[in-house]
Amino acid sequence: MLTNLKPQPADKILMLMQMFRDDPRSDKIDLGVGVYKNAEGVTPVMRAVKAAEKKLWETETTKSYTGLAGDPAFGEALSDLILGGTVAKDRLAFAAQPGGTGAVRQALELVRMAAPSATVWLSNPTWPNHNSIVKYLGLPTRDYRYFDEATRGVDFDGMMADLGEVRAGDVVLLHGCCHNPTGANPGLGQWGDIADLLVARGANALVDLAYQGFGDGLGADAAPTRLLAQRLPELLIAASCSKNFGIYRERTGLLLAVAPDAATQKLAQANLAFLNRQNFSFPPDHGARLVTMILTDPALRADWEAELEETRLGMLRLREQLASELRKATGSDRFGFVAAHRGMFSRIGASPDQVERMRAEHGIYMVGDSRLNIAGLNATTVPMLARAIAEAGV
Ligand code: LMR
Repeated sequence: MLTNLKPQPADKILMLMQMFRDDPRSDKIDLGVGVYKNAEGVTPVMRAVKAAEKKLWETETTKSYTGLAGDPAFGEALSDLILGGTVAKDRLAFAAQPGGTGAVRQALELVRMAAPSATVWLSNPTWPNHNSIVKYLGLPTRDYRYFDEATRGVDFDGMMADLGEVRAGDVVLLHGCCHNPTGANPGLGQWGDIADLLVARGANALVDLAYQGFGDGLGADAAPTRLLAQRLPELLIAASCSKNFGIYRERTGLLLAVAPDAATQKLAQANLAFLNRQNFSFPPDHGARLVTMILTDPALRADWEAELEETRLGMLRLREQLASELRKATGSDRFGFVAAHRGMFSRIGASPDQVERMRAEHGIYMVGDSRLNIAGLNATTVPMLARAIAEAGV
């Protein structure tokens, strides 16, 4: 049987991670996978997470199963962080998932159960795993224009024109903030237009929210999701705690379904629990418990928010510095978009050959589409990157 298996295409982001590890150069720079690193190149355990882990170790008395949808306290705390009380609680169904990817996968499984012929619309470009999961599940799919290669901002007219073809019942996957891989995001007014269009077309939306707190702040980053939740009758949200709590390997995520009414909420909740049971039974609990403890304890929460804010502002400073070093290195303002982008990533517009050249000549690793992870930089490596980008002729 096993001999019948076919080789699978390697995941480009994870392949790059391995290539970086195998590179013996000591001055290599990893701007590939979306993992936050501080100025020392370390992905730290956040202070509040450490404190919660200590408290948990001291107080936890059992490792017995939670509920199929996870501990409801986790869903309540995280949905409150995301939606900020903008939707009535009796409309919210949720289930803990193994990470943001688990939440996306489970959301698309739910779509397949409820609307197997719905087309899933993905931004072009999007996180490659979106395309891959949709294809794996055999769901009909189409792209919508998203990125303007000339301005490196959102091609909003193109996006709206393409979404104008969405049919009733289709599902549009949107990045709630900090678009991956481009770093370009619609303004709040544009989000209002997107919501109006989806309502007019009778379409559904799935929001992938993996970077809340990494762009303009916890509340601002959730604003587009809140707006969609208020205007659309239904909404799916796949949330990740990997980045904003720095608990990547704990696999902590939530699938949230905003139902049109309390009766549908019950149906959605039962189906979310059913899907968990089919796929893995009980979701992982450790990370979810830490998140719940942090969000519900005022002191831990204040410390977490403070550290997250330091992290966010550090990335914004790196963006400013990179834009300014690129101005010096190229004698032009054409990289000003780097400071306007938000989140961990910017797509800088280098060709695959130029990306390859930077890797070969300078040991700088970025994804082949020229997505770079801002959080992989520090004050010393920013000028090195700017010179390499200029030298490669980007
Ligand atoms: C990324 O895009 O680099 C991250 O979301 C990590 C991943 O799993 O690809």
